[in-house]
Amino acid sequence: MRKKLVAGNWKMNKTLAESEQLVLEVLSGYTKELQQRAAIMFCPPFTSLARVHSLVRDRSEVYVGAQNCHQETSGAFTGEISAAMIKACGATHVILGHSERRQYFFESDALLAAKVRAALTSQLRPIFCVGEPLHIREAGTHESYVQDQLVKGLFDLPPAQFQEVIIAYEPVWAIGTGKVASDQQAQSMHAFIRQLIRKRYGEEVAQKTLILYGGSCKPSNAAGLFAQPDVDGGLIGGASLQADEFLGIVRAC
Ligand code: PGA
Repeated sequence: MRKKLVAGNWKMNKTLAESEQLVLEVLSGYTKELQQRAAIMFCPPFTSLARVHSLVRDRSEVYVGAQNCHQETSGAFTGEISAAMIKACGATHVILGHSERRQYFFESDALLAAKVRAALTSQLRPIFCVGEPLHIREAGTHESYVQDQLVKGLFDLPPAQFQEVIIAYEPVWAIGTGKVASDQQAQSMHAFIRQLIRKRYGEEVAQKTLILYGGSCKPSNAAGLFAQPDVDGGLIGGASLQADEFLGIVRAC
């Protein structure tokens, strides 16, 4: 049985003081009962990573992730952050391939494959995002689109490394738009992704891999999504910025 995970992707939100406040509010409401329902993760901006880690270090089922990393280990890359630097802040995970990175920062499949490797080399577990834009969904080619992203970004990994990866299916048309995928649309894509993993890595790995849903997930729609057999939790943007909303989503697990 896969334990559910609710991860908050704060994007470019929250100063250091605001990060502290949000984490403390979430932790005070994250009761033993909620811990049994789902693990949680905070993915704050780089500037808050170390502080957030220090606030959660003694709590079980609470993880910290970054939102991006550079593909090289060090060097003359002004403004960039390496996987080892993130790891040294206490984070255990890193989001890679988010559609905002692909769209606004022109991150290609090849670049993302290199970032995945850099993360794994530094013992950071990638949360690898895939998902189709609206015109692809409307054309009905969303499965092959997502398959291509997975093959190019992940499927060259040896099994031992692939097992460290979490996948997030985030249809681009659902991110920050208020338009959520239906329970059936999410389940159908998640089952398709798990089937691809099964073909490439076998049944055991397919059963263990967490596949999160992301895109306008809220307390009001989370229960239906998380009840689907192949939906293992969520990657939450907007609704992760307020403690009561985020906890409401955990409660829906
Ligand atoms: P959203 O973002 O929940 O605000 O739609 C999800 C994400 O981009 O990870």
